[in-house]
Amino acid sequence: MDKGLLDWVSKQVLQGAQPLEIAAAVAREIAKAKALPTDGSQPSLLDVGSLYAPEGIKYTTDLIGSVYEQSLDTLTRRHGGVHYTPFEIAKKLARIALEGLPVGPVCDPSVGGGSFLLAVAEYLSYCGESPTKIVQELLWGIDLDQGAIEVAKASISIWGSFDKWVVPNSGNLTVANSLQGGLSSFADPPKSGFVAVIGNPPFQNQLQESTVRPIEQTRELREKWGVDTGPYADTASYFLLVALSLLGEMGKCLLIQPQSILSTADAEPIRLKLAEAANLEGIWIGGANIFEAGVNVCAPLISIGFTQKPARIWKGPEIKELKQRLINKENWANALAITQDVPTVHLSGEKLGEVSAATAGFRDQFYGLAPHVCEHDINQTAVAPLITVGMIDPLRNRWGTANFRYAGKFWSRPVVNLQTLNETDQELYEWVQERLRPKILLATQTKVLEVIPDLDGKLIPSTPVISIECNPQEIWKITAVLSSAAMSAYAFSTTAGSALSSNTIKLSAKQVIDLPLPSESRHLTKASKHAESAFNAETTEEKKEQILKMSEEINTAYGCDNEILQKWWIQRLPKWR
Ligand SMILES: C[S@@+](CC[C@H](N)C(=O)[O-])C[C@H]1O[C@@H](n2cnc3c(N)ncnc32)[C@H](O)[C@@H]1O
Repeated sequence: MDKGLLDWVSKQVLQGAQPLEIAAAVAREIAKAKALPTDGSQPSLLDVGSLYAPEGIKYTTDLIGSVYEQSLDTLTRRHGGVHYTPFEIAKKLARIALEGLPVGPVCDPSVGGGSFLLAVAEYLSYCGESPTKIVQELLWGIDLDQGAIEVAKASISIWGSFDKWVVPNSGNLTVANSLQGGLSSFADPPKSGFVAVIGNPPFQNQLQESTVRPIEQTRELREKWGVDTGPYADTASYFLLVALSLLGEMGKCLLIQPQSILSTADAEPIRLKLAEAANLEGIWIGGANIFEAGVNVCAPLISIGFTQKPARIWKGPEIKELKQRLINKENWANALAITQDVPTVHLSGEKLGEVSAATAGFRDQFYGLAPHVCEHDINQTAVAPLITVGMIDPLRNRWGTANFRYAGKFWSRPVVNLQTLNETDQELYEWVQERLRPKILLATQTKVLEVIPDLDGKLIPSTPVISIECNPQEIWKITAVLSSAAMSAYAFSTTAGSALSSNTIKLSAKQVIDLPLPSESRHLTKASKHAESAFNAETTEEKKEQILKMSEEINTAYGCDNEILQKWWIQRLPKWR
């Protein structure tokens, strides 16, 4: 938005002007420039307040919604997930959603100030539809916020009016809760449903306190939309089911989503339901810099009534189409991996869970251990080293080699005092005892999978380190498999979207036990030896040499292309530190 306009909006907000008054001033300015009459037939927003928008600014209709959003208080915006879509993005997304569709009514189920509907209007007008028909019949929207609906009505009307006012037919833009009402949000919905549903529903991350839903609401959503979702599924993901229910026999929907939709287990029932009833046409991987909230976004394009083809992939704010297609449509995360140039691998074999158990502590373990952690002293006896994610590098335990953050402080050689723990927290003490066995520790939120073996069972994992517990004879084999390029590529392409960054891997304990192991072979045996040599190497060069050989053997054991995988993986390995 123009800086002059932004400053004016901030000033008005500070002086106590209401969001609708501010939006109304901008709407009046645009209507005046289009010489639209003030004869009582104008949309009601234009009669709100008496502010004047600044002169000398190039006003476009999408700015009415933008200033409205900017004027809402931060709490409303954050809690309600109110972050309107930049108009340039909405226009490009509208094109990919509407291309090849017959002309018909289009709905945005969380319409806000109407930026997506304006984008749809521009596309339909470019295709030759008359602005009057577009405004009166083709644009439909729902929003909880009465103010947003006023703004959307005015924006659309101003866009399509010349000389005299043309306004949407009564009821096409309605105040309702789409998640509860679906199609019945409209008193008189289109007889054959919508040809397209498009929009940017509110994101409500269930891991963030400010946007968490009450459990009853999650229950209602599950019941209403017939899905057994986990409690952490973002509210935005339910809108995909709303969108599907609004479509007619042939149509497409495209809704912006947080990237967690691509892989999180809690939203899996939604992905499965969509796969059953519809077809994934493509996925846009937007990235992190689309909205000011900085969340990584994407948008699946779902269709019904069209022939199935491999799914298309678009990337970035330019919405550039990639040459690659998504072949296995069940794995949405692979689309993100493809945009990040992760080599595609097809690994199969017995699941890691057949030979091991994996566990990650929760907040309780993290905070419960903290009072019992101290720096190591050689006189201590009943203590065990605490291993944090930061201490784990590929086949190298950095405990004692540098300072690492844990519970708000820096530590070099942190240990847990087992005696005081036993005396004060029996349950946690038992949890720790269970961990003191031969295992492999896996870091998280890393660019490649990073593990260290714990042959003697002496190390205590600090949440969110994952502990993979197995028969001691299996340790080097599993260490080698997890440390390989093939496994990093596989983990990335099956779970992308769940980490904090689009470029890192985050596996849950459940996903770890689902990883496929290669069958026994001389490659696997050799790789295990290289893993052991790498872990015990005395020089950086020797360690590196052994790690590369180990990975090559595992890639070969899986039947993968070594060259592509190694090249991708080597440049992602952490620098020696
Ligand atoms: C992220 S904004 C997006 C607005 C617009 N689609 C855009 O892209 O610019 C989300 C909008 O959804 C509305 N909203 C939130 N929950 C809703 C619900 N359950 N039903 C309908 N609208 C809702 C909010 O009031 C807000 O205007």
